[in-house]
Amino acid sequence: MGLKVQIFLLVISIRSVVTRVEAYNQDFAPLKSLLDDWNSTLSSWISSNPCADNWEGIGCTNSRVTSIKLSSMNLVGELSGDIQSLSELQTLDLSYNKGLTGSLPSSIGNLKELSTLILVGCSFTGLIPESIGSLRQLVFLSLNSNSFSGPIPPSIGNLTNLYWLDLADNKLSGTIPVSDGITPGLDMLVRTKHFHFGKNQLSGEIPPQLFSSNMVLIHLLLDSNQLTGSIPSSLGHVQTLEVVRLDRNSLGGPVPSNFNNLSQVKELFLSNNKLTGPLPNLTGMYSLSYVDMSNNSFDASSLPPWVSSFPSLTTLKMERTSLQGEIPVELFSLSGLQTVILRNNQLNGTLDIGSSHSNQLQLIDLQYNLITEFTRRAENNIETKTIILLGNPICEETKTTTEKYCTIQQSNISYSTPPHNCKPASCSSDQISSPSCKCAYPYTGTLYFRAPSFSNLGNSSVYIPLQEKLMLSFNLHELLVDSVSLSNATKNLEDYLLLSLEVFPSGQEHFNRTGISWIGFVLSNQTFKPPPNFGPFFFIAAEYSHFAEVSKQTNKSSIGIIIGAAVGGSVLVLLLLFAGVYAFKQKKRAERVTKRNDPFASWDCSKHSGGIPQLDKARCFSFEELKKCTNNFSEKNAIGSGGYGKVYRGTLPTGQLIAIKRSQEGSRQGGNEFKAEIEMLSRVHHKNVVSLVGFCFDKSEQMLVYEYVPNGSLKESLSGKSGIKLDWMRRLRVALGAARGLAYLHELVNPPIIHRDIKSNNILLDSHLNAKVADFGLSKVMSDADASHISTQVKGTMGYLDPEYYMTQQLTEKSDVYSFGVLILELVTARKPIEKGVHVVREIRQTMDKNKELYNLQGIIDPNFGLGITLKGVEKFVELAMRCVEESRADRPTMSEVVKEIESIMVLAGLNPNADSASTSASYEVASTGSGHPYSNESLFSRSEGFPPAKLDPQ
Ligand SMILES: *[C@@H]1O[C@H](CO)[C@@H](O)[C@H](O)[C@H]1NC(C)=O
Ligand SMILES: *[C@@H]1O[C@H](CO)[C@@H](O)[C@H](O)[C@H]1NC(C)=O
Ligand SMILES: *[C@@H]1O[C@H](CO)[C@@H](O)[C@H](O)[C@H]1NC(C)=O
Repeated sequence: MGLKVQIFLLVISIRSVVTRVEAYNQDFAPLKSLLDDWNSTLSSWISSNPCADNWEGIGCTNSRVTSIKLSSMNLVGELSGDIQSLSELQTLDLSYNKGLTGSLPSSIGNLKELSTLILVGCSFTGLIPESIGSLRQLVFLSLNSNSFSGPIPPSIGNLTNLYWLDLADNKLSGTIPVSDGITPGLDMLVRTKHFHFGKNQLSGEIPPQLFSSNMVLIHLLLDSNQLTGSIPSSLGHVQTLEVVRLDRNSLGGPVPSNFNNLSQVKELFLSNNKLTGPLPNLTGMYSLSYVDMSNNSFDASSLPPWVSSFPSLTTLKMERTSLQGEIPVELFSLSGLQTVILRNNQLNGTLDIGSSHSNQLQLIDLQYNLITEFTRRAENNIETKTIILLGNPICEETKTTTEKYCTIQQSNISYSTPPHNCKPASCSSDQISSPSCKCAYPYTGTLYFRAPSFSNLGNSSVYIPLQEKLMLSFNLHELLVDSVSLSNATKNLEDYLLLSLEVFPSGQEHFNRTGISWIGFVLSNQTFKPPPNFGPFFFIAAEYSHFAEVSKQTNKSSIGIIIGAAVGGSVLVLLLLFAGVYAFKQKKRAERVTKRNDPFASWDCSKHSGGIPQLDKARCFSFEELKKCTNNFSEKNAIGSGGYGKVYRGTLPTGQLIAIKRSQEGSRQGGNEFKAEIEMLSRVHHKNVVSLVGFCFDKSEQMLVYEYVPNGSLKESLSGKSGIKLDWMRRLRVALGAARGLAYLHELVNPPIIHRDIKSNNILLDSHLNAKVADFGLSKVMSDADASHISTQVKGTMGYLDPEYYMTQQLTEKSDVYSFGVLILELVTARKPIEKGVHVVREIRQTMDKNKELYNLQGIIDPNFGLGITLKGVEKFVELAMRCVEESRADRPTMSEVVKEIESIMVLAGLNPNADSASTSASYEVASTGSGHPYSNESLFSRSEGFPPAKLDPQ
């Protein structure tokens, strides 16, 4: 009996050893070593397999750790040099862990795959290691708001893929390194868009060699350092610059005259230096909106004429700049002007702010000048503004000393997110009532905007788009965020705009660790982009100490078992262990070989857990699964066909209806292209965009699985084929939905997506007649977020194609706007864009007469529209369409402007733009035939047929 039992036990332990070896992960030890140095409770970091067991903050590909995102985890301690063993690491985000101290280990240079390194808002000290220059894949480097000291390592110049370089707010000293043929330097970073070096102790001259015309810098921030010498004229060659901050240094000499060439610069800070010579001529910098030249030693002069010529100027600050003479009244007629600060000059004569000044004008501070008169006009409404003339002769006469303008007035207007139509809840002491009036523990911190283009901090309409964009960014990542609140807008000594941010959890009182680390990442990695008027920003989180408790995972596979088994076994077991390792290696080798041939190998379709890193929700289906749910792709389930292949309706075991687009032989894409398309589609989640449920790449099949959209395409409804009646109100709703979907693709998906084939066939209607943008077969991803266009072969559909794109082959979002304009005209006329050789745009242009009723378009408007009943807003709708189809794309609105315009037309027509469509329109008839399904249209399949460039109707 003894023998039998022993053999039985032996077999069991062998099994256990072999499986344990496979479950053990080579990145376990280095991760554990990192954790041992951090005094933290990452409760999921227990098992021996960080990849299979979903450790908090750890992302894997092919069983190797590729990302560590531990923003705001209250880590305390140092960063272990063992991090170098995580050789496949691509993303490391340890932002907002104030307790992380010590130096950045030099061994970090061994992480050859690292593309994102974010340590913002920790407490690292010491030198930035020279080895950082070995991270050749690095795209995003953010070391700001630490206590790094010593020089900027010249080796950073080797990081030629770098897009974002933020070293601000440290204790860096020495000169800015440039290359000299032997050592590298920052002049080599010709692909970098952001140099953020402010708030350090950098000294010496700004090297002229740093700048050249082949650079693509947009933000140059050198403020609050100890730089000397003059501003190099080479800076005038960097035509891409949008924000220039050289303030708070000791720069001298005159401003180089070619500064005037920097026509894209919106925010210019030269204040608090020792600049001399004449006031620079900035006439050519016509994009300027915020100018601060205060506290320099310029030659005495009157206010230069250019100050009144910038159409976007909001803020002019020229304190102590030896200005004399009178202030030209034209200055105040700039339509966006908000703030004028000209303290401590010799401005004299009369202050007259004219009768047609900007209604945004809030502050005119002219303290300590020589002004003797103030022209008061009834229309100036000076009660609503702050005008300060204290220290001028006018305030020394006894009759005026009691005037309000002779006192210092504090403006204490400040914005704070109001509750969303509810009464704030009264919460226990440490909880806070959210804007939706629920008590919770918010994640908090401060947003720092380094160069906003506005200065009216009390105007709430500035903050609402910021709030919306924050919410949308969090929703995009499916983070459980209920609402965000902004408050306490202030400017600090460095002229940064500070805003307190509170992010509230949804459906619970606390965030869990994963939620926090993702929110932190969205903010630290600049995934969230504020509206352009806020300029460059960074965020510093406060400590979050209210993490939701997660149930501790059981210690299912610890190394203890391996050791126990090995000790308990025998030599035979060791031999078998050896064999197990060998088998494991063979398996790995085989995997590597398959990976080379199959781009999907890393997605591992056999498991649905964590193995599909880029995919958010999209599922990998096997051929068998899809075969089953379409009844073996039966003809009965075929709901459309085209050059691409066929479309089948299917039902998943869960009951969910799906539409499966199955490509036929000969029209399949390359595996990598197919994969790229799936990755793109799985990043988009919006109620006005058809969502991808999954895909199948199996047995040489290529299939895309979409949600099933029951009411077919807009085209079928407009042509009467589907049986759905679209009255004016429904058409407005469809337009709004499609516009919102498109605005989402352009402005919220990161990187943005250009659809390239907007037309009525590609707008589908769901059971509530909500519009959904479909078919991304021709779509392009703007992977370089700052490029103005992509050059690409012209594709699209005749009649909808943007003429400028057609001529220049340069694709921009505005090409979709053009197609959308044609779509609106289609909604209005129910005609094809080109009928009998005439393009609808031309026909409307010729017929339209704004002096006549309905703009003289009765003959063209679709009779099914409900003519006879009042059609409020139709004219505005047509006008909007005509703006979308302007010849020059600069004249076309953006999609979010289109959304706003449609919303206002709906309000005009008496509709609520935010109500659900079906509930606000009379009931509709739905065709009972199967023809109403969305994918039946031939045009959906135009993609792989080498679609010929469309011919444009000459107009
Ligand atoms: C300033 O520059 C503009 C060109 O940008 C030029 O037309 C103008 O004459 C210059 N003004 C002065 C005073 O030099
Ligand atoms: C204002 O100052 C300028 C230059 O210093 C001088 O030429 C002018 O006469 C002064 N005007 C008045 C009204 O005092
Ligand atoms: C507030 O800002 C909006 C948009 O930026 C602007 O249209 C409006 O005039 C501003 N209001 C005031 C009082 O400045």
